[in-house]
Amino acid sequence: MPANKLVLMVLAVLVAAPAPAPADPDAPALERLVRQDCGSCHGLSLKGGLGPDIRSGALGHHDRASLTSLILDGIPGTAMPPWRPLLSEADATWIAGYLLNGAEE
Ligand code: HEC
Repeated sequence: MPANKLVLMVLAVLVAAPAPAPADPDAPALERLVRQDCGSCHGLSLKGGLGPDIRSGALGHHDRASLTSLILDGIPGTAMPPWRPLLSEADATWIAGYLLNGAEE
């Protein structure tokens, strides 16, 4: 069997494997985005880097709604970009809940 077909079959098996996680079908992709994209500024463990600590304990001044808007709109005049071009409101709400519930753990 050609190697590329084998690769496709392996991918199909991986994709079909049951995800251990939450109801939102986008959750695994969003978790990856938080680690890689948000993590590129906020640190891989979200403890802070160029951007501040965004672990749950540091977000006490936010609720899920304020955090969702902040993710969608960014913080104008700072390096915190708006994510509206890439994320739906539902995605941003999910990420806000994920951060508040301790994404770093
Ligand atoms: C290009 C770098 C960069 C990326 C990528 C980035 N941020 Fe930020 N973020 C920042 C900076 C810088 C600040 C602080 C802005 C300021 O001076 O207030 C910030 C601030 C924040 C805050 C406010 C923290 C607080 O204490 O109020 C939150 C929450 C946040 N970012 C979440 C995220 C999330 C979630 C993502 C990924 C979807 C993300 N950021 C991606 C740079 C980034």
